[in-house]
Amino acid sequence: MAAKIWSTKKNKKIIFKNSPCVVTMQGLNNLENNIITLKDMKILKNQDVYISDGVFQAIGENIADKYVNLSDCEVIDASNLVLMPGLIDCHNHPIFAGSRANETVLKSQGMTYEEIAAKNGGIAATMKATRAVSKEKLTEIYKLNAKDALAKGVVLLEAKTGYGLNPKEERKMLEALYEAYNGEDAQELPALSPTYLGPHAASPEYRGLDNYIQALVEDLPNIAALGEEAVKKGISLPLAADIFLERNFFTKEQSERWLGAALQHGLDVHIHSDEFSRSGGAELAAELARRVEQTASKRRQKGRVLTVDHCQYSTESDLGRLATLGVIAVALPSTSFFSRIPYVDAKRWRASGVKIAIASDFNPGSAIINNIWFACYLALSQCAFSLPEVYAGVTVNAALALGVEDSYGIIEEGKKATLVAFEGNSADDFFTSPIGDHVRHVVL
Ligand code: NIG
Ligand code: FE
Repeated sequence: MAAKIWSTKKNKKIIFKNSPCVVTMQGLNNLENNIITLKDMKILKNQDVYISDGVFQAIGENIADKYVNLSDCEVIDASNLVLMPGLIDCHNHPIFAGSRANETVLKSQGMTYEEIAAKNGGIAATMKATRAVSKEKLTEIYKLNAKDALAKGVVLLEAKTGYGLNPKEERKMLEALYEAYNGEDAQELPALSPTYLGPHAASPEYRGLDNYIQALVEDLPNIAALGEEAVKKGISLPLAADIFLERNFFTKEQSERWLGAALQHGLDVHIHSDEFSRSGGAELAAELARRVEQTASKRRQKGRVLTVDHCQYSTESDLGRLATLGVIAVALPSTSFFSRIPYVDAKRWRASGVKIAIASDFNPGSAIINNIWFACYLALSQCAFSLPEVYAGVTVNAALALGVEDSYGIIEEGKKATLVAFEGNSADDFFTSPIGDHVRHVVL
C-alpha cells in the first residue's frame, strides 16, 4: 500500500486522531551524558495531532472534539498508527545516471570498492554516464529518486553533486537539482538540502588532484552565488560543500584547502572520511571547527563544520573531539552492507559522546538502496545502536547534521509540521519493516 503524501502549504488542515504512540523527540535538550534514552523521545499516548498552515497547531487528548471544526479538516483515524517527525536523510547522492550493477558481481567475487575504483569503475564510471546525459534528464532522474525517498517518509533530502568532476559538469548537476524545484510538481518533492561535492574523485581534465582542487576553489564564488540565488527564490536550503578525504582520493591537506575556502564563502561543510582507513577527516573537522569557533567571534563567519560521515576508522578520541565541538558523526551502515566493509561500532561512538545521525548514503556504487529504513534497520541490528539512538539519528540529530534543527526533526506545538505515520502501536514498530513498507502517511 503506497503512503499518502500530504502537502500542508495550501491552507490544508489535517488531524490525526487518537494515535497510540506519538514520538515527539522533545526531550533531547537536557541529556545526561549525551546518552539518548526512551524518556528523551517524549512519547505521548492516545493523542490527536492537529496540523494547519504547515504548523503543528495542537497536540493532546481529544483535540478533535474540543477545538477543531472537522467539516473543513482532513480527519485521519490514527488508532493503529505511530506518529513521528518527518524523516531526514542527511547523506544521499540521488542525482546520477547509469548503473554499476556489474560491481555487485565483482564484489561478490572478492574485489573491493577500492580495487574497482582503481580500475576505472566506481565514481569514474558514474561520471561518464552522468556527463553523457542532458541536464533535463538529470533533473528527471533526481525527481524519481526524491519521490521514492518521500514515499518512505523522507521530508528533507540532502543531495550531493559529485559525478561531474570538473567545474562545468558539477555546475550542471547543481543546476539540474535546482531545476527540479522550479517545476509545477515541486510540492511533490522533499525539501532540498544541496551539497556541492566537486572533489569526489580525480577529474580527467586536470593533471593531479592539487590542480583540480585549485580549479574548484577558483570557481567557488560562482557556485556559492548559485546557492544563494536558490535560497532567495525559496526553492532550496543553503548550499553546503563536501569532499572525499580518503587514501587514493583526496588528502587531508587538499581537503583543508577546499573546505577552508568553502567556509570562507559562508558554506557549511561535510566530510566523507575514515571509511577505509583512518584518513584524517575527523581530525581535520575538529581543527576546522575550532578555527571557525575562534574566528566567529572576531568577524561574521557563516560557514559551520556540520558533519563527518562514514567514520568506521575514527578513534574514540577523534569522535570525542567532534563531540566537544558540536560536529555530528554520520553512520552509513548501508554502505557497509553493500560494499562489504566493517560496520561502525555503536559502543565506541556512544562512549565518545558524539551526536549520531544515520543516513542512507544512496549512490550507484557503494550503497545501492535509496531507503533510510534499511539504514536504520542495519544501524540497530548490525551496529547495535539503540532504538532511541536510531530515532534521533534520522530526526533531531539529522536536523543538526544539516543545520536545520530549528525547523525539522521534532513534533512540537508551534513548530513547522512534518510527520510520518506508520502502522503500529508502539515505538519499536519502527522496525516492523526493514524497508518502510508500513509507512501510511507523510506530511510535509
Ligand atoms: O559515500 N565515499 C564516497 N562516496 C560515496 C560513494 C560514491 C560512489 O561510489 O559512487 C560514498 O560511499
Ligand atoms: Fe556518500
